[in-house]
Amino acid sequence: VLEAADRAAVRALWLKLGSNVGVYTTEALERTFLAFPSTKTYFLHLDLSPGSAQVRAHGQKVADALTLAVDHLDDLPSALSALRELHAHKLRVDPVKFQLLVHCLLVTLARHYPGDFSPSLQASLNKFLSHVISALAPNCH
Ligand code: HEM
Repeated sequence: VLEAADRAAVRALWLKLGSNVGVYTTEALERTFLAFPSTKTYFLHLDLSPGSAQVRAHGQKVADALTLAVDHLDDLPSALSALRELHAHKLRVDPVKFQLLVHCLLVTLARHYPGDFSPSLQASLNKFLSHVISALAPNCH
């Protein structure tokens, strides 16, 4: 469970991101595909070229899931249980790949919000995203 200070930091950042969460998750996906090409193997059925509308649409889905997670910090495993079923059992995403996306999301947010991105915000975000990805990985429950 996230500590109060971490929750407050994540919620405050999410308020600031507002309707732009999808812009950043899309950039994070693009960075992930470029920096860690092995992640592309899960998305061969999508157009992964830069600026792709399909990547943008997927980025918005990931954004909505992260916003749902921010709204359910007390209960991430149940809020994300359908997504866990999808990622862990249907898609069988290698858990290491989640870390790569998280890394790229942190890089993206640091780039767009340099003034906010203190070491403590990075730590809070990293804890939040670690909880999210452990809720998506196999053997969570
Ligand atoms: C689909 C969220 C990480 C591979 C999805 C969907 C969401 C989502 C919301 C759409 C589900 C639906 O349409 O019902 C997330 C979140 C992640 C994450 C929140 C981590 C923070 C990953 C990673 C990979 C991956 C690391 C693989 C490298 C996929 C694939 C699909 C999918 C292949 C199906 C895409 C399609 O066919 O449209 N994910 N995901 N996800 N995700 Fe993830």
